[in-house]
Amino acid sequence: MNRPLGITVSRHIMDSQRLHPEATGDLTGLLNELIVAAKTISAEVNMAGLADILGMSGKTNIQGEHVQKLDEFANNTIKRRMARCGYLCAMTSEEEADIIPVAEGYEGKYTLAFDPLDGSSNIDVNVSIGTIFSIHSRLSPDGSPGEESDLLQPGRRQVAAGYIVYGSSTMLVFATSDEVHGFTLDPSVGEFYLSHPDIRTPKKSKYFSINEGNYHYWQEPVCRYLEHVKKVDKATGRPYNARYIGSMVADCHRNLIAGGIFLYPRDSKSPTRAYGKIRLLYEAAPLAFIVEQAGGRAVTDDGREILDIQPKELHQRVPVIIGSSHDVDTFLEFMNGKK
Ligand code: AHG
Ligand code: MN
Ligand code: MN
Repeated sequence: MNRPLGITVSRHIMDSQRLHPEATGDLTGLLNELIVAAKTISAEVNMAGLADILGMSGKTNIQGEHVQKLDEFANNTIKRRMARCGYLCAMTSEEEADIIPVAEGYEGKYTLAFDPLDGSSNIDVNVSIGTIFSIHSRLSPDGSPGEESDLLQPGRRQVAAGYIVYGSSTMLVFATSDEVHGFTLDPSVGEFYLSHPDIRTPKKSKYFSINEGNYHYWQEPVCRYLEHVKKVDKATGRPYNARYIGSMVADCHRNLIAGGIFLYPRDSKSPTRAYGKIRLLYEAAPLAFIVEQAGGRAVTDDGREILDIQPKELHQRVPVIIGSSHDVDTFLEFMNGKK
């Protein structure tokens, strides 16, 4: 059987480190630990459809625990592995209300914010889901436990951000301030290989991704924008095609590769939705960092740059418009009353 002779993600990360003589290797070590967690989650996701069947036979998972809910499994896998990796001082997860400390004596110089499994409504129906992560350098002095303020930093200051999509293949995409690349998991050897070097997202697209079921809860300019993309106008490539998976990570991944605009604007469905639905630290900011690194754009529905928002709370929500830059610009023209 032919194996891909490509560059593994670990080799790629080490080669990138060589370009930075000042690098200590900590980020390399941190990413490598995260990749092990990702492979563990990927293996479990692939077994998910069999959980009930195997559960009946008393199957235990690789941690020796009884089969648990997948988002809980993903959360525990990342939390436990990263708490002792020695590169982090604190973490925050969508699944945990408070800051997650690392093991005593293992404090490092970075923070990690993560959504262990994004797209929970798709877990039980065999549709793409993913893990999203965001890494910052700590602000508090080295050698002490990290603080909440270490995690509450604008997305612009991310050292690296990435996601893993568990889809028809498992893919890892990550960005640093220098680069954004995609890697595909060969499950037969358990390695991610470089499959999408230097990702550039199309400037203009023909796809939109939004939960149109919320139409009657939106602000009026959002509705007008939606009417605009659906209008027939061959000269400007309309109507656009709708693609909405309901896992932001999978929707944004599709748009990153094929071009497109993902929107989760604020709506009046419930009081909390006045701030949108998407969480800033571990959904919007990392995806914004990746998409901008690939030449796209990420803003709120009132035109603020997602990456410049100073977070006030760990689980803060933010309206999100993200994707091909020309399409995001057009959306803002509607919001600004220019269209
Ligand atoms: P999570 O599964 O981590 O809670 O996030 C789900 C989010 C996001 O991924 C997705 O785009 C959005 O919720 C879907 O929301 P709707 O079901 O309202 O469309
Ligand atoms: Mn999520
Ligand atoms: Mn989640």
